[in-house]
Amino acid sequence: MNFQALSTCVVLLFTCIHGNKEHLRRAYDPDSWKNNVSCDVCKIIVGQLATAVEQQAPSKTLIELSNFFCTHFKIEDARVCKAIINQYKDTIFGVLQMTVLSPDDVCAQVINETCGSPFNPNTTWNITLSSVPKPPVMPPAIPKPGLPTIRILQLTDMHLDLEYKYNSSADCHEPLCCRVNDGPPEAGHKGAGYWGDYRHCDLAPRTFYSMMEYLESIKNKFDMIYFTGDIPAHNIWNQTRVDQLARIRVFQSALERYLPDKPVYFAAGNHESSPCNIYAPPFVTGNLSQDWLYGAFAEVWTKWMPMDTIDTILRGGFYSVSPLPGLRIISINSNLGTTDNWWLLVNNTDPAGQLQWLADELQEAENNNEKVHILMHHPTASAGVKPWNLNFFKIVNRYESIIQGHFNGHSHDDFFTVFYDEVNFTRPISTGFVAGSGTTYSNLNPGFRIYTIDGNYTGSSWAILDFDNYVADISELTAKTTPVWVKEYSAKADYNMGSLYPSDWSDLIYRMRDDDSLFQKFDKYRYKLAANGPCKGSCKTSSLCSLKTAQTGHPDLCKDLQ
Ligand SMILES: *[C@@H]1O[C@H](CO)[C@@H](O)[C@H](O)[C@H]1NC(C)=O
Ligand SMILES: *[C@@H]1O[C@H](CO)[C@@H](O)[C@H](O)[C@H]1NC(C)=O
Ligand SMILES: *[C@@H]1O[C@H](CO)[C@@H](O)[C@H](O)[C@H]1NC(C)=O
Ligand SMILES: *[C@@H]1O[C@H](CO)[C@@H](O)[C@H](O)[C@H]1NC(C)=O
Ligand SMILES: *[C@@H]1O[C@H](CO)[C@@H](O)[C@H](O)[C@H]1NC(C)=O
Ligand SMILES: *[C@@H]1O[C@H](CO)[C@@H](O)[C@H](O)[C@H]1NC(C)=O
Ligand SMILES: *[C@@H]1O[C@H](CO)[C@@H](O)[C@H](O)[C@H]1NC(C)=O
Ligand SMILES: *[C@@H]1O[C@H](CO)[C@@H](O)[C@H](O)[C@H]1NC(C)=O
Ligand SMILES: *[C@@H]1O[C@H](CO)[C@@H](O)[C@H](O)[C@H]1NC(C)=O
Ligand SMILES: *[C@@H]1O[C@H](CO)[C@@H](O)[C@H](O)[C@H]1NC(C)=O
Ligand SMILES: [Zn+2]
Ligand SMILES: [Zn+2]
Repeated sequence: MNFQALSTCVVLLFTCIHGNKEHLRRAYDPDSWKNNVSCDVCKIIVGQLATAVEQQAPSKTLIELSNFFCTHFKIEDARVCKAIINQYKDTIFGVLQMTVLSPDDVCAQVINETCGSPFNPNTTWNITLSSVPKPPVMPPAIPKPGLPTIRILQLTDMHLDLEYKYNSSADCHEPLCCRVNDGPPEAGHKGAGYWGDYRHCDLAPRTFYSMMEYLESIKNKFDMIYFTGDIPAHNIWNQTRVDQLARIRVFQSALERYLPDKPVYFAAGNHESSPCNIYAPPFVTGNLSQDWLYGAFAEVWTKWMPMDTIDTILRGGFYSVSPLPGLRIISINSNLGTTDNWWLLVNNTDPAGQLQWLADELQEAENNNEKVHILMHHPTASAGVKPWNLNFFKIVNRYESIIQGHFNGHSHDDFFTVFYDEVNFTRPISTGFVAGSGTTYSNLNPGFRIYTIDGNYTGSSWAILDFDNYVADISELTAKTTPVWVKEYSAKADYNMGSLYPSDWSDLIYRMRDDDSLFQKFDKYRYKLAANGPCKGSCKTSSLCSLKTAQTGHPDLCKDLQ
């Protein structure tokens, strides 16, 4: 194995850290490192690594060399390098032992599809849709004023850092700073803020509890809670299974203590696992299986749900539940469909049978006249593996009349995605509501969202009627002040929308294209009022494009956004 190959292999190890640098705001393209690894180099490495694994080369040698390169090329600080390689080695060796893919196809999935044979939808796997024909699509009927509504709080991406430290170094040259181990700031640099910091720092516990206290004080403003994933901080190079489970428990106790009467419905985040992003499908047995985490999910999530959700939680971290008559919540584990989950290099055929199950659940919901809210950590466009995405879109298309919204997180930004009809690309069919994070990582204010939903009466549509976003501006806070939680904006009023159906969101994209001040307002809300520099020209075009391409693979969707 040559040195260049090894160094790139180390780069491959860093998908998670680099993936997380999407939070370094718009100047940074999270996937840019992938352009630096050519297909040829990738194929050589994967081939050589696979051979080495096959010949049972001592993993100690591989690890030592990887450490050397990681440090030598300053990919990460030495301390982080050593730890992250240790964290990921078992998964990498496990995947390489099991995969039957050629190096070309591994690189196509990890780097760029042009590395392998082009994706062919005719030969990929398909779930089976029910033979019941799709009912005719009716235009949505806006509920009459005065009908009852319920309110749902969405919390997402807490990334609570129990080791956050006031005045520690916030420019530590590691993926996460402001921590007990980071020491004092360099001369001339400001240390970590008391209530948080816009740099590479996660949510300070005191700010988290300030948010929980505020939520307790407004608990009459919501009936239940959707939590769409990511509890632990971004110190992903140093998170054991025990650490991850402990953080889930901390969050659970906070919910039970501050909001004891509010049912909580969870979705699995990529950061809940150890190592980050890696969710072993059921074909992985033994020590690398995912049972350790699914067991904890089952235990914690069923504090608020019936026990009959346990089978699918234990199988793959997903479930279906009806909290109120006529409403069904389906929580999908999108980690079983992302390119960052390397187990899918072994076999990406409907991991854990989740999408077939989703299609079956939706058919049953249709039979029972239920409406559905889909909870899923990743906004659909970033859910990755092509056949998984295609099957997901096919399902959404078939059941567009009962899916009233997708509740997403992961991005940390506040935005939305519009799905369009598979055949008629101008007809909006579904909306992804992407709420902003609890964490400040990076250059964000902490926040949360409360939706108003048509519901809890017989025959209600369970449609999303409006939502309010809340933030605390941390920029001016000191040890002597406290965060002030305020309403930031309301979707209908601030975007001047008549209703919040898919066609209204699609119209908003075009209104923002034509009305720059409206777009600038959206862009300010995107970062929850933290300054991120102006977004003009190509920045604006790609921002609008990202709202239209929840359905990946259709570049035509953005042609009219110039
Ligand atoms: C990729 O290569 C370019 C040019 O060599 C360099 O400027 C950039 O920092 C590299 N990006 C990453 C993520 O390695
Ligand atoms: C893959 O590579 C092609 C050719 O270099 C490039 O045009 C395309 O944008 C890349 N795709 C992704 C998803 O990076
Ligand atoms: C897939 O099948 C369709 C219909 O048979 C055909 O027109 C198309 O060329 C095929 N696509 C590929 C990539 O083979
Ligand atoms: C999967 O479905 C697509 C259309 O949705 C079809 O073109 C393709 O032939 C199917 N593939 C298989 C393997 O059945
Ligand atoms: C934190 O830093 C500020 C400003 O440098 C200083 O006034 C304060 O005493 C420090 N507090 C602690 C607890 O280190
Ligand atoms: C990992 O975390 C432990 C406990 O928090 C700490 O003692 C150790 O120094 C950390 N190691 C690295 C490499 O950051
Ligand atoms: C199983 O894996 C975990 C995490 O990598 C490790 O801490 C533990 O020692 C392993 N147990 C066995 C029996 O190999
Ligand atoms: C991949 O998984 C699917 C579904 O579990 C299974 O039917 C198929 O045989 C597997 N493929 C391989 C190559 O193991
Ligand atoms: C496509 O959808 C648009 C918007 O709903 C509609 O106006 C148009 O008639 C549709 N086109 C076809 C061919 O169905
Ligand atoms: C929903 O309606 C049912 C039946 O009228 C009632 O028992 C329940 O308290 C309501 N729940 C909420 C959250 O409004
Ligand atoms: Zn996150
Ligand atoms: Zn995430």
